[in-house]
Amino acid sequence: MGITIKSPREIELMRESCRILSLVHDELAGMIRPGISTKEIDRAGEELIRSYGCTPNFLHYQGYPASVCVSVNEEVVHGIPSEARIIQEGDIVSLDMGLIYHGYHSDAARTHAVGEISPAAQKLIEVTRQSFFEGVKMAKAGNHLHDISNAIAAYVKPYGYGIVRALVGHGIGTRMHEDPQIPNFAQIRRGPKLKPGMTLAIEPMINMGTGDVEWLDDGWTVVSADHSLSAHYENTVLITDGEPEILTLGKR
Ligand code: MF3
Ligand code: CO
Repeated sequence: MGITIKSPREIELMRESCRILSLVHDELAGMIRPGISTKEIDRAGEELIRSYGCTPNFLHYQGYPASVCVSVNEEVVHGIPSEARIIQEGDIVSLDMGLIYHGYHSDAARTHAVGEISPAAQKLIEVTRQSFFEGVKMAKAGNHLHDISNAIAAYVKPYGYGIVRALVGHGIGTRMHEDPQIPNFAQIRRGPKLKPGMTLAIEPMINMGTGDVEWLDDGWTVVSADHSLSAHYENTVLITDGEPEILTLGKR
């Protein structure tokens, strides 16, 4: 379908969709503590999204049964919230969530530490987050899409972590997943040229071991094949004439 260029009016709607999502993410971050179930986090996320007059875009997406993906430890993405899954001290918990505001989608993910975690786990979270910022430095008009991919991959490489290749970032707008796909690993071709008005969900997923993944029998939960810890960091980003605008970070 090609990469869509958003009009100024559409960009305003994307900004608002993303601003609200950043507020909901911040609220959920404050709820994560030992003893809470992953379903409670999902329920709170859905209620908050609806309280802003928005719709959760993950709910019922290809049959996905919740509004927030809650992925714990070796779970990479798409963990299904459950009353039986209780967050423990020392866990790392990835929250991935999006919403629709006046027809426009936003999408963002963060990995949180629960209480004291190991220095190695802390490093994984930090490198994953920073790899997004290294990629986004390249998200400028005139650069090419894969400059983003290559910057993420080059930053992660010295740490010896595994970059997940089976899942990638994506364009976003009136649909959650639009063209282009945005790999987080090194590319040979440069990919399409970036233009102002493109909106991209850039989302590195990084494992402490290899980047290989498997799907659990629930059909959704993606886990690292070697059961090593995994972290995820995602924002919806606007390409402009100048510096990229990270729409889901809010004003800070
Ligand atoms: N968050 C995923 C992405 O960034 C989409 C999740 S779809 C769901 O592309 F169905 F699992 F919610
Ligand atoms: Co996404």
